[in-house]
Amino acid sequence: EKGGYDHFMLKEIHEQPKAIIDTYRGRMLADEGIIRMAGIDDNMNKFLNAERIIIVACGTSWHAGLVGEYLIEDKARIPVEVEYASEFRYRNPIITSKDVVIAISQSGETADTLAAIKLAKSKGAFVFGICNVVGSSIARETDAGAYTHAGPEIGVASTKAFTTQITVLTLIALKLASKKGEISKPKLRAFLQEMQMIPKKVEDLLKIDDKVKEIAAVYKDAPNCLYLGRGFNFPVALEGALKLKEISYIHAEGYPAAEMKHGPIALIDENMPIFVIATNKGHYEKVVSNIQEIKSRAGKIIAIVTEGDTQVKEIADHVIEIPETEEALSPLLTTIPFQLLSYHIAVMLGKNVDQPRNLAKSVTVE
Ligand code: M6R
Repeated sequence: EKGGYDHFMLKEIHEQPKAIIDTYRGRMLADEGIIRMAGIDDNMNKFLNAERIIIVACGTSWHAGLVGEYLIEDKARIPVEVEYASEFRYRNPIITSKDVVIAISQSGETADTLAAIKLAKSKGAFVFGICNVVGSSIARETDAGAYTHAGPEIGVASTKAFTTQITVLTLIALKLASKKGEISKPKLRAFLQEMQMIPKKVEDLLKIDDKVKEIAAVYKDAPNCLYLGRGFNFPVALEGALKLKEISYIHAEGYPAAEMKHGPIALIDENMPIFVIATNKGHYEKVVSNIQEIKSRAGKIIAIVTEGDTQVKEIADHVIEIPETEEALSPLLTTIPFQLLSYHIAVMLGKNVDQPRNLAKSVTVE
């Protein structure tokens, strides 16, 4: 049932190229620059008239929501807020019938997310669900939605759910952008054609497993780790840190790279591994200077860079190369090495990868 893999998590990491294809299949005609999503098409006016979109979710799904915020604001120019479902439901939020709420949940059973949906509905908001489990409570409770077609995710650490949620959010952002005239047809076509290349690029990336394993062996005994990223890759830093904590029980924190100088920089010494996403587009030079700041404090730098990078390679202790892509699509690639890294560290430390202590696959209690 694990398809020859030692753990479900590893199997699910390797299923991502197919899961991403299954998620966009039938929804995009790249060469024609067309996106079809019934749940969006049927409710287009709700989205176009929305004063803002509020995304609610927990854990990894919340991280996908953050990527969604960057995508929807950048591409479709609609204001987006992302909130932990648990906070949203208890803070007496101002919410009206002019708001569209997007709830994201792999399991579709997360109690806090479900309660947030009910609250939003009671205030008259239109609620759209992005779920993986067909017929789940959240899928039933929402007004409309789009499924991720990741297939069953058994490992407690979410992997393919994350990349397929981002895939759906990308399609939504582009669909809205194109309807609003924020993106030209040729640009949309080019973007979708690039999106079609992502599964193959993920597949190529999965082949760097041995390199990630070597890095895992070097840092597996670190008591603390930092993960840094900017822009579209800031949420990937948060997700990288969550993966590590969850299955290896190593304390890790994700930060926007530029925020480091406002506090976490005090933690840096020669014992601190820092995983930095430094891909070539979007704030590259800024991230390079963040890396220099770490280096001058003797921190260990493991950088995710774009193939062919030379500048970061000179300063970092280790680099992991990812294939070139659109900046907005890069989270689908940069997240892969982090998933593999946490997996290998957890295995090396003898932890229960698929069922980490104190955690359940879906959190159905508040
Ligand atoms: O099923 P959901 O997407 O609603 O679950 C939300 C979180 O509980 C979940 O993502 C959790 O953070 C994962 N274990 C992370 O790997």
